[in-house]
Amino acid sequence: KRLIFFFLFIYWLSATFVVNVTQSSYQAEENHSITLEWTFTTKTQGSWKNLFIYCSLLAPHKELIFYHIHEGVEIPDSQHEQFSGRVQIDKDVLREGRIRLHVSRLRTEDSGLYVCYVKTEDGFNSGRCRLNVTGESFG
Ligand SMILES: *[C@@H]1O[C@H](CO)[C@@H](O)[C@H](O)[C@H]1NC(C)=O
Ligand SMILES: *[C@@H]1O[C@H](CO)[C@@H](O)[C@H](O)[C@H]1NC(C)=O
Ligand SMILES: *[C@@H]1O[C@H](CO)[C@@H](O)[C@H](O)[C@H]1NC(C)=O
Repeated sequence: KRLIFFFLFIYWLSATFVVNVTQSSYQAEENHSITLEWTFTTKTQGSWKNLFIYCSLLAPHKELIFYHIHEGVEIPDSQHEQFSGRVQIDKDVLREGRIRLHVSRLRTEDSGLYVCYVKTEDGFNSGRCRLNVTGESFG
């Protein structure tokens, strides 16, 4: 019986906690910058000690971490070297449940599916968007 309540609880969490993308696909040119944005449910304006954000790029045959927050603290060491020094988060809007990640000096290999997993005291969910960076050869 306890197990059933546990699964109902998990279901309730996933139903009430959402991670949205403001745009499902982005188009950009090499060397330009872009801001990818996710929004997540913020019910309790709780402590950010319970904030976990894990964003990665899913490209063919690889998964590269491009942004990571653990217990409210940014973990730059987790970030893949491809994104080193090129990703900045807007900390002011993070409190409103908006993950705005600014990626500069875009490379064609930044193209792919971007997934952010978010966990707070309110729940857990993920959202994804696509980025297509075109180089000169396309122009
Ligand atoms: C997510 O999107 C749904 C549907 O557009 C909207 O009703 C909801 O308010 C959004 N939630 C967040 C946290 O962005
Ligand atoms: C990326 O953009 C280029 C130029 O607009 C287009 O030719 C190509 O099909 C796009 N690729 C994807 C995966 O959307
Ligand atoms: C981007 O910058 C590199 C290095 O400066 C250059 O070789 C390349 O042509 C640039 N690409 C575009 C599309 O401007």
